[in-house]
Amino acid sequence: MKPIFQLSLILLCSLARDTSLVLAASDSVPHGKMPDNGTIFNISKQLCSGCIAESVEFLFTHNLARAAKWEPLLFWDFQLQKYARWWAGQRKADCELRHSFPEGDFKLGENIFWGSGSTWRPSDAVSAWADEEKYYDYDTNSCEEGQMCGHYTQIVWKNTRRIGCARVVCDTGDVFMTCNYDPPGNYIGERPY
Ligand SMILES: *[C@@H]1O[C@H](CO)[C@@H](O)[C@H](O)[C@H]1NC(C)=O
Ligand SMILES: *[C@@H]1O[C@H](CO)[C@@H](O)[C@H](O)[C@H]1NC(C)=O
Repeated sequence: MKPIFQLSLILLCSLARDTSLVLAASDSVPHGKMPDNGTIFNISKQLCSGCIAESVEFLFTHNLARAAKWEPLLFWDFQLQKYARWWAGQRKADCELRHSFPEGDFKLGENIFWGSGSTWRPSDAVSAWADEEKYYDYDTNSCEEGQMCGHYTQIVWKNTRRIGCARVVCDTGDVFMTCNYDPPGNYIGERPY
């Protein structure tokens, strides 16, 4: 396994929660039993209508992680996709693992990924982020010392509803991927779920 570098984002400000959004898909997830992958895949496809396969893969893998915590499934947002594609385009020449927002001024949630070589897929990025679950301690609402878990907590953040992501093979031959989340998660002092 080649090294993967990730950065997490922590929001320093707090906004009112958006509770007015109700996601239809969450109603179609039967309670009591974790829906199977095929069901989550089919729902994700519906929530990403008109998407290319790569986008469905981003959305499906996010929704797998969310379903495991009974969080409402996310839907794909083409405005966020446009933003993510813009930022991926900005990174194509250098492939630097950089956020699109200045530190402390995040308007959207953002997870970014860099992988050496051209074969990294959306599911690789989402797995790398979601694997941080093992470092997240719900009781203390913190990451294990010296570890990151902010990518994971953004993925399963309760109030987040929409995502848009992009993948680019850079001129260096490596891969950069970015996902944006709205409303953003990772409010300090709040738990993800
Ligand atoms: C569902 O997908 C997850 C993530 O890709 C995988 O770990 C798991 O084994 C899959 N479960 C089934 C039943 O296919
Ligand atoms: C998902 O959709 C496909 C194609 O419509 C269908 O054949 C399959 O049974 C569905 N799977 C589940 C688990 O609903």
